[in-house]
Amino acid sequence: MTLSAPADHSDRERTRARIAEVLARARRRTRVLTDSVDEADLVAQHSPLMSPLVWDLAHIGNQEELWLVRDVGGRDAVRADIDELYDAFKHARVNRPALPLLNPAQARGYVGSVREKVLDVLDTADLDGGPLVHEGFAFGMIAQHEQQHDETMLATHQLRRGAPVLSAPPAPAAPVPVGGEVVIAAGDFLMGTTADPWALDNERPAHPVHVPGFAIDVAPVTNAQYAAFIADGGYDRPELWSERGWAHRCTAGLVAPQFWERDGDRWYRTAFGVRAPLRPQQPVVHVCWFEAEAYARWAGKRLPTEAEWEKAARFDPATGDSRRYPWGAGAPDEHTANLGQRHLEPAEVGAYPAGVSATGVHQLIGDVWEWCSSSFEAYPGFRAFPYREYSEVFFGGDYRILRGGSFGTDEVACRGTFRNWDHPIRRQIFAGFRLARDLREDER
Ligand SMILES: [Fe+2]
Repeated sequence: MTLSAPADHSDRERTRARIAEVLARARRRTRVLTDSVDEADLVAQHSPLMSPLVWDLAHIGNQEELWLVRDVGGRDAVRADIDELYDAFKHARVNRPALPLLNPAQARGYVGSVREKVLDVLDTADLDGGPLVHEGFAFGMIAQHEQQHDETMLATHQLRRGAPVLSAPPAPAAPVPVGGEVVIAAGDFLMGTTADPWALDNERPAHPVHVPGFAIDVAPVTNAQYAAFIADGGYDRPELWSERGWAHRCTAGLVAPQFWERDGDRWYRTAFGVRAPLRPQQPVVHVCWFEAEAYARWAGKRLPTEAEWEKAARFDPATGDSRRYPWGAGAPDEHTANLGQRHLEPAEVGAYPAGVSATGVHQLIGDVWEWCSSSFEAYPGFRAFPYREYSEVFFGGDYRILRGGSFGTDEVACRGTFRNWDHPIRRQIFAGFRLARDLREDER
């Protein structure tokens, strides 16, 4: 017992240090996203799909207060009077600007005082305590929550009109272009996780899944490939679309991905206020699930199921194990994945050879969220934790799965098991897709 005590102690201190670091990183990002615009832009609603940025800001603080100050810390409330205003289930995004929200100065002051108390709680929290704090889970959940709102706020920035306020170095070009597909043989693999300490309830538990043999594209669909679909009349051929997809394409007047604009025979894309010619080898982004479905039919393929996507990302045929990330267990960095708003665009396909999966598939993590064919359902053995509203209330709804994170996603909220979901008509998210297909008789 005594021999293991120092190791346990240093493990706990390492966890505490990591928590402090991920919370600080999330806050730096939140500041960039909220300090880069003026007061009028902070309180404005840039799209009915989005909250005013100042709502996201105070909501980040309010969730942090509820879980870490009051629940984990057992401390008095900082602002119990505002809980209702910042409850995402009580007010739809479209109604949030009309609420008596904290103004920008109040919101900044509020998130600052909450954070101060949280760092105090962190100093003494028993990280071996109950399930909520075990290995720092609640702190990890709150860091992920803030980063998820940072990605949402980045989407608000993309919808905002006016002069550019955000900038970042361009995403890397590909040393060697990649394309084609790989075949993944039929067999079981372990999907989801039981052991990952900060994995959320919907990623749990790990469970074996039999996946029939399939082929999956080595890279996501690029702008050039998507432009060929448009040039071939993709948006004018109802036979390529599902009935629901075609109805939506007509009602919404879809003719190209969101933020694309044609000038003569060239396509331009506006990103964060900057209009530039499309980069042909970057993954297409800002397409809805119905557009992805139509493109797949045009290409004679289909979207991968969620299990196929995860098997391509995590399965190591040499060992039979499932990896945390496509490249292994090591945390993502600038050589393996385009994450963390380091670049404000997806990188060309093939730009991250060090991030390739054991099955030979590129860029599964980062760049663009990838639409899967599956809807959002519980894994066998699912248990809601720490509250039903995190995932359970969304199971069985009209949602499609998104996997892998985007250039706007922080690594703390991205791993091979991470599941995202959204309505099939949504385009403001940083989503693209890749294709898969069943195996032919001679390939099995
Ligand atoms: Fe939230």
